[in-house]
Amino acid sequence: MFGVLLDEAKKIARNPRRLREAFRLRRWRQFFGILRFNSRTGNRWKPAEGASGLKQREYPSYEEYVRHQQSKFGHLDLTEYDRAYRVLLRERLRTSALLKPGASVLCLGARQGTEVKAFHDLGCFAVGIDLNPGKENKFVLPGDFHDVQFPDRSVDVVFTNSFDHTLDPEKLLQQITRLLKPGGMLVIEAIQGEAEHSAPDYYASFWWEKIDDLLALIGRHGFKVARRTPFNEPWPGEQIFFSRVGSGSANG
Ligand SMILES: C[S@@+](CC[C@H](N)C(=O)[O-])C[C@H]1O[C@@H](n2cnc3c(N)ncnc32)[C@H](O)[C@@H]1O
Repeated sequence: MFGVLLDEAKKIARNPRRLREAFRLRRWRQFFGILRFNSRTGNRWKPAEGASGLKQREYPSYEEYVRHQQSKFGHLDLTEYDRAYRVLLRERLRTSALLKPGASVLCLGARQGTEVKAFHDLGCFAVGIDLNPGKENKFVLPGDFHDVQFPDRSVDVVFTNSFDHTLDPEKLLQQITRLLKPGGMLVIEAIQGEAEHSAPDYYASFWWEKIDDLLALIGRHGFKVARRTPFNEPWPGEQIFFSRVGSGSANG
């Protein structure tokens, strides 16, 4: 409990406007939800098998993982994030000049659909999936990125900024590989790792020491870095474009 409070105090010190949130009922519900989750699961992590610099949250069951991931959305007001991240991502993608208008894009772990809207702004045909897309979401369908409902080789681009929410990174990468057309691209936005001064929040289930550790894992699945760009907002991280080794040419 002390850890949760200390963590929140640090966030308020960094962003005093967050203090207003302390008076909201949904935040208290979130606080007690975190305490209940921690006391049930022990808030434990283990090193990821066969990979260095990666760790995974321990869940008593897959159902517990799904419930935990689904629980965050209801506690948040994402209005400002939705506006700001849409613009930030759109401009980062535009600057890359690697996306073709008309490309088909699947966004994994897309929640309210901010990234889907950013791809729409650039003329792409984009849709998202999430364990909890909320009600009547026009941009994101219900779905699990460990077992995606779409066919093999059906999309030009897979995007995700939710790698830190996987329970099984190997399965996630197998799904991405399966879904991409020959010549398709994987684009991720990854937060900095623990050795780069970022710590997992209460909903993260997978974490890295350094972004390089995550890239090494992705590289072992046949992806080659095509472009790597650091950024600071909405959190310090990097945008990375990957192509598949030996799978033909460009998206779109
Ligand atoms: C940090 S949020 C990011 C949401 C969104 N990408 C954004 O930037 O607003 C992580 C999201 O991943 C989703 N998620 C976690 N595990 C998932 C899974 N196995 N399949 C699909 N979505 C998942 C959660 O429900 C949550 O909405």
